[in-house]
Amino acid sequence: MGGGNMGTALLKGILETATARADQIVVAEKAEEKAEKLAKELGVRTVNRPEHIGEVDLVLFAVKPQDLDKAAASLKKRLEKKALFISIAAGVTIERLTGLLPAHTAVVRAMPNTPALVGMGATALAAGPDVTDGQKKLAQGIFEAVGLAVWVKEKNMDAVTGLSGSGPAYVFMFIEALSDAGVFQGLPRETSLMLAAQTVAGAAKLLQMSDKHPAELKDMVTSPGGTTINGVHALESRGLRGALMDAVARATQRSKELGS
Ligand SMILES: NC(=O)c1ccc[n+]([C@@H]2O[C@H](COP(=O)([O-])OP(=O)(O)OC[C@H]3O[C@@H](n4cnc5c(N)ncnc54)[C@H](OP(=O)(O)O)[C@@H]3O)[C@@H](O)[C@H]2O)c1
Repeated sequence: MGGGNMGTALLKGILETATARADQIVVAEKAEEKAEKLAKELGVRTVNRPEHIGEVDLVLFAVKPQDLDKAAASLKKRLEKKALFISIAAGVTIERLTGLLPAHTAVVRAMPNTPALVGMGATALAAGPDVTDGQKKLAQGIFEAVGLAVWVKEKNMDAVTGLSGSGPAYVFMFIEALSDAGVFQGLPRETSLMLAAQTVAGAAKLLQMSDKHPAELKDMVTSPGGTTINGVHALESRGLRGALMDAVARATQRSKELGS
């Protein structure tokens, strides 16, 4: 339900990785234009009223948190007891979701991030009490279609929001600042931005593909008295780690405030 930014990103990932076929998916999207585009581009059946969905064994809620109550109410009578219900609504707890649905509905709460739009998302998942192991596998497969998916305790979802949910913004700022720094040293703007973005993407990939701790990889490029250790000293003098810890702490706190 909800064929917006996140819904469409997940749908594309699911189809591209053959996690499901187009003829197994129905999208409920109330905006007519968006629905037509999805049907045409992805070959899925679309309906503008959830009542027309038919019988399903998995519901993925990708509507805004403020639309959730209404959307759940429209589905409540139709929901098969065995159906798995997955919500990506930021800040909406499993307890609240369960209250909107028939008793003992299996509920998974997910927190994806925007790199899911390019298949490089980082999603944290938390399972409600009635979710079976098979349903957990199903939920994980959906989010692995657009990147990485990990299970966490629900109480850690605010920290996830502060880290990977808000994290793309911190990284965009880091890349912008790094490219400004290159321009400051005389590099053309476009060259500087390309080098900065690729450096971040490449370093992340190198870390993920090696079995080394990030500190070890850093040590490998910091020769005694060399250029990199001079740069590291400047970052440490300005408290890079403390700034990041404060950023995640503030975002986590805000997520708690918005959810309560
Ligand atoms: N974007 C992110 O980075 C991100 C990250 C983590 C979690 N999330 C969560 O993902 C969810 C979706 O975000 P989004 O950015 O994809 O929002 P979006 O682009 O606004 O998509 C939501 C879509 O659902 C439609 N809709 C609303 N109520 C509906 C209903 N009852 N039946 C069928 N369709 C309905 C909306 O139509 P109208 O436009 O006509 O209202 C809209 O097209 C949110 O709950 C958000 O908290 C997003």
